[in-house]
Order: sequence, then C-alpha cells, then structure tokens
Amino acid sequence: MDFAPRPSAYRYPGASAMIDVASGASAQAATARAASPPLENRVKFQDGTIVSALGQGSWHLAQGRHSQTDEEEALRTGLALGMMLIDTAEMYNDGRSEELINHVIADQRDRVFLLSKVLPDHTKADGIVRACEASLARLGTDHLDLYLLHWRNRDTDLSGVVAAFESLRERGKIRAWGVSNFKVSDMEDLFDVPDGHRCATNQVLYNLGSRRIELDLLPWCEQHGMPVMAYSPLGGSALVSDPALARIAAERDCSATAVALAWALRGGNIIAIPESGSKRHVKENAVALSLTLTPQELEILEAAHPVGSGDVLRSLLDRSKRWVRSFRNAL
Ligand SMILES: NC(=O)c1ccc[n+]([C@@H]2O[C@H](COP(=O)([O-])OP(=O)(O)OC[C@H]3O[C@@H](n4cnc5c(N)ncnc54)[C@H](OP(=O)(O)O)[C@@H]3O)[C@@H](O)[C@H]2O)c1
Repeated sequence: MDFAPRPSAYRYPGASAMIDVASGASAQAATARAASPPLENRVKFQDGTIVSALGQGSWHLAQGRHSQTDEEEALRTGLALGMMLIDTAEMYNDGRSEELINHVIADQRDRVFLLSKVLPDHTKADGIVRACEASLARLGTDHLDLYLLHWRNRDTDLSGVVAAFESLRERGKIRAWGVSNFKVSDMEDLFDVPDGHRCATNQVLYNLGSRRIELDLLPWCEQHGMPVMAYSPLGGSALVSDPALARIAAERDCSATAVALAWALRGGNIIAIPESGSKRHVKENAVALSLTLTPQELEILEAAHPVGSGDVLRSLLDRSKRWVRSFRNAL
C-alpha cells in the first residue's frame, strides 16, 4: 500500500550520525553528514507500506480551539497537500477527535493512512479488542492502518498486548501495530516477547527543542529497520516563534514551522505528525515536504538547540538499566 504523495527511494542517512552522537562524537559533525542527501518525503515500513513523511496530529482537535468546520477543513487540506497519515487516539477528548476525523475521511478512507492508540489501562483481558472496536465505530471504518499502545505502565503485560494486536491483525481489524513512548529498554523488553519484533513503529517526542532520542532510540530503530514517528514536532507550538528557525524561514520565504518540520524529517526514517486546526497553518506546514535544509542551516539550528545534558543523563540511566538486565540474563 502506498499512502505517499509521490514515489522515491527510501533511506535513512542519519543513522551513523546518531550513533556518533550516542558514542560522544559532536552533534555538529553528525549533522553535517546527515545533511547532504536530499530530503525524502516518504517513509517505508518493514511490511512494505509507504507513507508520506508528514502526517497530521489530532490531540487538541474537537476541543473548541477552532470551529469544527475549520478543523475538518484543515485536515482535508493536509490530505490534499500530501499529509496522508492521520494520528488519533481513543484518549483524545474521550473519542471526539476520532469522531471528527470520521467526517473528514468518510469519502476518502482508502487514501488515508489511519492510526489510533489504545490506553494501557485497556489492555487487560479482551480490553484491546473492545477498545479497537470502539475506535473503529467512532472513526466509521472497518480497519486501522496502524494501532499503537499509547504508553507502557509498570504492570503492562507486553506479551498479552502483542498477542491481542496480532489477533486483530489476523482478523483484518488492523493492518499493523506499534508502540508509543517506549525507551530503548522498553523496546528490548518488547522484542523479547513472541512476535514483539513485528512492531511497526515507536511514536515518541521529537523536535528541535527535544532531541533526546538521537542519543539512543533513533540509532536503535535504524539498526532494527524501524521508522520512528515524531510527535509534538513543533514543540506543542513552542518552536513557532523560535529565533533561529525564524531567521532561516525568512531567508527561505517559508514559515518557521516548515523549517522545524524539515529539520525533523531530515534523516529519512522519521514521520512527523504536526497538529493544526487551521487551514492556513496546515498549508505553511506542508511546505516542509519540499524543503531541504542545507548542512549549514542544520548546523545553525542544532547549535542553537543542542541535545540537553538532562537528556544525556536520562539516556545513560536507561543504558545502565539495559546493562544490568543483560548482566542478570547472562548469570
Ligand atoms: N503518543 C503520544 O503520547 C503523543 C503525545 C503528544 C502528541 N501526540 C500526537 O502528536 C500530535 C502533535 O503534537 P502536539 O499537538 O503536542 O504539538 P505540535 O504539533 O508540535 O504543535 C501543535 C500546536 O502548534 C500550532 N501550529 C501548528 N502549525 C502552526 C503554524 N504553521 N503556525 C503557528 N502555529 C502552528 C497548533 O495550533 P493551530 O491549531 O492553531 O494551528 C497547535 O497549537 C498530536 O496532535 C497527537 O496526535 C502523541
């Protein structure tokens, strides 16, 4: 299946760069190497499905921030401009986001790559199946293209979750499944359970102001051939008025948000899902699909927003947790 605006070859040039970052080499040097190839505007999952690298989020839709008509028009505009993936979740405004999306996709379901998420509280017994059926009903469709576990609780039974996802996949209710907010140690736990390696993606926080995953998760996913989905790619709008982005945007005659999104997509293995309930904003954001930042521009942006020392610490903590576990397993 192809949910991308136009075909091109897939590859992720930033992997070695990310590994260098993880092993302590300079982020700037990594950036320069990652920058040279042209921006790819589509990403391929392991099952061969191709999606546009720029999708659309929906967390704050159907909450009255904009009129429902405007929000539906914004999503339709995004689809028309090639942002073919729509991300939602049962949690978003208690299912109202899914209901709004129902209206948008009703006459074009086959063009849309539709993703929803199940809450970890709904994973016990037949909870996942019931949650999926409810999402399908709200979305007015008979299948999801991707179904994610929204996050992992301490007591989440990963093998039970994977078995339920696999059963939904075999019954055609979902085409693929994945996870969200998983650290590398969580991914390793997932890959330890039967069929855990069938995970299609991990949806995580990633934007110019939050680069933690470059230290560990991005290289891990690259090594496992798994695309990563970047949520809050505009920092929840914090990057809209960022001075470094604004300077480059002025030179490129586009919005700061387009630059922020082009930055997020630069490696070729990332799908970014900005949210907007405004048609004008969506049009600005869609420009990222055809915007390739130069190595110099990437260097300026990453010098202005280096990986935080807190992120390095958190990454080291997760790494030591993995070391302890592999040491225990070896005993
Ligand atoms: N898996 C998870 O745990 C998780 C967590 C968070 C988010 N998500 C997903 O990721 C999506 C995006 O994340 P997010 O909503 O946190 O943040 P975001 O996409 O980084 O930012 C959204 C905000 O930016 C504004 N915006 C968008 N385009 C703009 C433009 N061109 N100019 C000015 N403002 C603009 C939006 O306002 P307007 O509507 O006015 O344009 C909105 O306030 C969510 O909707 C959700 O689907 C998933």
